[in-house]
Amino acid sequence: MSVAKKEYKRITVKTLVDMKANGEKISMLTAYDYTMAKIVDGAGVDVILVGDSASNVMAGHETTLPITLDQMIYHASSVVRAIDRALVVVDLPFGSYQSDPKEALRSAIRIMKESGGHAVKLEGGKEVKESIKRILNAGIPVMGHLGLTPQSIYKFGTYTVRAKEEEEAIRLKEDALMLEKTGCFAIVLEKIPAKLAAEVAKSVSIPVIGIGAGNGVDGQVLVLHDMIGMTHEFHPRFLRRYMNLYEDMTSAISQYVDDVKMKDFPNDEEQY
Ligand code: KIV
Repeated sequence: MSVAKKEYKRITVKTLVDMKANGEKISMLTAYDYTMAKIVDGAGVDVILVGDSASNVMAGHETTLPITLDQMIYHASSVVRAIDRALVVVDLPFGSYQSDPKEALRSAIRIMKESGGHAVKLEGGKEVKESIKRILNAGIPVMGHLGLTPQSIYKFGTYTVRAKEEEEAIRLKEDALMLEKTGCFAIVLEKIPAKLAAEVAKSVSIPVIGIGAGNGVDGQVLVLHDMIGMTHEFHPRFLRRYMNLYEDMTSAISQYVDDVKMKDFPNDEEQY
């Protein structure tokens, strides 16, 4: 069933805030290249996130830490060339904004200028407040990211659910209010209890987009390669796989190998 996804010619940060106000859920998926982004945009996804998960999905790193600003710009510019409708949000990679607000602004400007993306996302709460302010002052929309923040994996030590304890939950709620007050247009909440996420979504007027944060938020985001089943060794509870492309592709490719070996490909019609 196709639901109300062609009504907006072009999604802007304002569209997302309006969607929340109207109770319309926001769909968001990652993409890192032109061909995938074309499909995702054409299917009516509202927001395409050029996530630093490209570090894992595209480059095979264990964490998101190694991906560079240049590499993020390369991925983002490929995505932007494919888009007619979606808002394109680009992750500021690890090391491109944490040291000081001026560097954060320089990195955000490079992303906007060199990739053509429409907004940036960065991880963290009050520790990145000054950087967010700087970026916003330059007219660049910022999406926050709280809960499980993969760029801090070595501090957390694991990818398990965050903010289960009261102290961390209180800090997360305060950070969400701070992000709204500072001027972020949306917040991603990753892997936190559904009840807490719903509470946060109710407490702010900007959209809260969840991944592993339950159904009481304003929208959902998944990593594209996980939801289409191209990856197959990752089974978090929150992930719904809509296809099993790993198996389908493996069987198509091994069929091709057999056809070549058996001299069945190309046949008479497949040559000049
Ligand atoms: O990089 C990414 O894909 C993300 C999502 C998991 C929200 O930040």
